[in-house]
Parts: sequence; structure tokens; C-alpha cells
Amino acid sequence: MSTVRRPFTVDGKPFFSLGGQSRNSSGYNRAEAETAFRAVKLLHGNTLEIPVYWEQVEPVEGQFDFGSVDTLLAMARENQVRLVLLWFGTWKNGNMEYTPDWVKRQPERFKRVTNPFGNTVWVLSSHCEATYQADERAFTALMSHLKEADSEERTVIAVQIENEPGILGSDRDYGPEGQAAIESPVPSKVLECLPALTESPVFRSWLACGQRASGSWDEVFGADAGEYMTAWSIGRYIDRLAEAGRAIYDIPLYVNVWLGEQGFRQAGTYPSGGAVSKTLDIWKLATPHIDLIAPDIYIADADGYRAICRAYARDDNPLFVPESAPWGSNAWNMFYALADCSAVGYHFFAIEHIVGPDGEVNPAAKDIVGSFHATAAAIPLLLKYQGTGRVHAIAQYEGMQEQHLDMDGWVGVARFGYGGYTYAGMDWRHTGGDRALVEQPRAPRGRGLVFQADEETFYLVGGAYRLGLLRKGPASETLDPTRSTDWFRERQAHFVSVDEGHFDEAGAFVVDRRRNGDETDNGIWVEPDVQVVRVVMTR
Ligand code: DGJ
Repeated sequence: MSTVRRPFTVDGKPFFSLGGQSRNSSGYNRAEAETAFRAVKLLHGNTLEIPVYWEQVEPVEGQFDFGSVDTLLAMARENQVRLVLLWFGTWKNGNMEYTPDWVKRQPERFKRVTNPFGNTVWVLSSHCEATYQADERAFTALMSHLKEADSEERTVIAVQIENEPGILGSDRDYGPEGQAAIESPVPSKVLECLPALTESPVFRSWLACGQRASGSWDEVFGADAGEYMTAWSIGRYIDRLAEAGRAIYDIPLYVNVWLGEQGFRQAGTYPSGGAVSKTLDIWKLATPHIDLIAPDIYIADADGYRAICRAYARDDNPLFVPESAPWGSNAWNMFYALADCSAVGYHFFAIEHIVGPDGEVNPAAKDIVGSFHATAAAIPLLLKYQGTGRVHAIAQYEGMQEQHLDMDGWVGVARFGYGGYTYAGMDWRHTGGDRALVEQPRAPRGRGLVFQADEETFYLVGGAYRLGLLRKGPASETLDPTRSTDWFRERQAHFVSVDEGHFDEAGAFVVDRRRNGDETDNGIWVEPDVQVVRVVMTR
């Protein structure tokens, strides 16, 4: 069974967090937040990620007002969804926009980053102890408030510390404190790990500088020193916050990342010192009090998307996607994160946009909503089978008519499009009415998940594909993808039953509807609204 490490729990049980992140201004009050909660319900999600703003909760230094947090807690409970609170403190997208005005107006006290040209940028320096102390006081006040207001109900399942931290506009702070930091020795904790990090970009920089056993950041890492030193500094800053927060109220804490792959490859065009894939090993060393580091994946290219998932899904870092693109290829790519990289939660950004003017699903959002609906139905299966090799992603990209799945004893052949005769295409609910006889409905691109529970039991979620199952034989351990599908052989694979259904609270499969005959003949199909299809095969 699944061995995936899951930081999120509800009622002491592992919890798969599925939902969206609100737009940036939705956390200020009830009126702003309402659409975001509605969107989570339309998505069939269980969690809303929404910000808490330092500027709002500490408008006057030392005076806290957590009314906005109480409003969010009340709304979440009314809507029966969980919350992930995003602490917009020292950093938000590599700048300081959410700091209180008393922070913004005192640059001598709360020092800003100086760029290489000697100008300050709109980012607070991680080397300034006064800023750290101010953020720590506010963050720990938030954690104390959550302890008081939520330790019974546990509506808040996690807190994200800061938002996409780093420096936009410089690779490091060139002010006096930053200069002292880059000239200081690389900590032994980093140096001792370097020889083992052979796959890491950090290792390559170290190699290029002669694998020194000691020295300043410049000496040990050369051209990358500014970014690496800043990663260590910001990582330690955030880890100190996490340690202080946890000492008060111990709930999961994570950090999100503006990916380097989405900048122009130069630290500072993306927030320098953030936990980009290049600095991830330094961040992991710097942050023992952080549960995970989470990529915000807006990459549309399927290969690039997958590479990011692989980079962040590590033994020491379960993959959690706190932000992804609201539209487009995300509705397909996400299944790779769930199946191949065992994502422990999945969210997309700006969920308000799925709510149409009538309060129902905006038709333009139907692909992503369908993918989330399908995933919601599969949560008990994800919790059970992720990491076992029994979860297979289906994602149809342009030009694909079929996708083959290499399963235990079987080859799965996912055929895309609705296919077949109209009357046997699916059933009257999906191709019904007069249209069925005259007009073939246009299929969206296929996507979903196939779970192989045991040798002969399969569960399907998703839409716009049909699964055929071919038993592997001595002559074909795998299907030759250059051969056309062997329909005859496939029809020799017999099933005992094909049922639509859902999982109950206890995790048992409840049959809602039996299928047979025409509804099964052309491959097993599923759509998000039928939830889960179970297929039991036999010899
Ligand atoms: C990533 C940030 O984390 C969000 O707060 C938001 O600014 C989005 N980018 C906008 O695309």
C-alpha cells in the first residue's frame, strides 16, 4: 500500500488537499472571499488556499487584529472546506508589497536589498534582523491566534510561510550586510553535504570552483555564489519563523516557489534565493522545520511540467502543487503529478474564474473542473495506491489517438475520442436525445487516471477516453506501440462486471449503476459526472 509521506491530515487521517487558490485580494473580507468558496464547491474540492496579509493583521506596530482570519474560519466551516492560509509577510512574489505601511515607511530600520548598481529595490533584505524580528512577532501572533481559534476544529490544515520568497531585481543584497554574508564562510552543514550531491547543480558549481573544503561563498561557488548565499539566508530566515511558529502551534508549514525555469535563467529575473530547482538542495539543508517545498507550476509545455514535478518529488520532499494554471494544459498535465509523482495535494490559482455570472461553472472552465471532479472521486484511491506503481495517468496531447499503459499482467489501451457508433458511443446520458442519431458530440481531449487494485480489478476516472485491456502473453509482454490495436485479442479479455460508483466515508466502493452490452463493448469509458468506474476482469 501507499508509502507516500503525507503532511496533511484531518481527524488524524491522511488528507489529500484538492482545490484552488483564491486571487490575491480575496482574503480581505467576507464579500471578497465568497466567490472563492463558491468556486471550491463547484470544483468538488475540499480545500481553499487564501492569504492572510501582514498589512491587515498588524496595521499599527504591535497591535493585532485577526478579524479577517476569523471570518475565513467561519466561512470555511459553513462551506465545509478546509483552509490553507498563505502568510503574505516579508515576501510576496519576490517583493514587499504586503508589509504594513510602518514597515514600508521605515527603510532605515527595515533594510531593503541593494542591487549591484548601489540602488535599493522593493524587497526587504533577509540579512536585516529588525525585519526578521518584526515578521516573527506577527507570524507567531497568527499561530497563537490559530491555536486559540482552531485547535479544536482544525479547519486550517497548513500554513504557507511567505509567498514566492526571493529577490526580484538582484541576485543578492549588495548592501553592507549582504556583502558581509557573501564574504563569510560557507556553513559546514552545506560543505559536508556537497560531495554526496553529485546530481545537484550546487555540486557542479562547487566542482567548477575546485571542490574546496572551506572558503567564502564566492570562493566555493564562484558565479552562483550570490544566488546560493541568498537561498541559504532566506531559507534560514523562513526556517526560524517556522521553528518559532511550530513551538506555539504545530501544524504543517511549507514554502512555495516562483520557478527559475519561468524566468530568464538569470537569478533576479525570477526571485533570487527562492527554492528554485537549482537551489533546492541548499533549501532542504536550511529548512528542517518546513514540511515541504512546493513548486507553483504555470509551465504549459508537458515535458517542462513533468521535469518540474520530478525535481520537487523527492524522498525528502513530497510533491504538493499549491498553484498551477487555471486553464489550458493543466487539466491534462495534472494527472502526471498525481500518478507518476504522487502529489499529496493539487490546487490551481485564481479559482474565482470558474464561477460564471449565474453562479454555476463558467463553460470556459469545464475541462479543468472536469479534471478536478474526476480527481475528487479518486481521492480514496490516491491515498491507497500512490507510490505503489498501480496508478497510471492518461493525458491526450495533440496528435495522440491512443495511449498505452504498461500494467501488471495487462496492457491498457486508452483510445481517445468518443468513437464507435453513436448509439453505442457511451449511453443516453452523454450522447442521448435527438442529437445522438445525427451528430457525434465532439470529444474534449482525454485525460484521467487508471488504478489497478489487484491483478484483475481496475478503477477508472476522467473523461473522453475508452480503456481496452489486453492480457499480456508470452508473445507480447508489452504491446508494440507500432502495431495497431489488436481488437480481436482485446475482445478475448473477459470481464465479470463493469460498475459505476463512488467511495463512501469508510472508503468502500458503492455501486451506483451496472453497465453491460453496448455500454461496455467499445472499451470502458468514464466521464467526470459518473465518478468512478470499476472493472473486474477474469480469464
Ligand atoms: C504566483 C503568486 O504566488 C500568486 O500570488 C499570483 O501572484 C500569481 N503568481 C499570478 O500569476
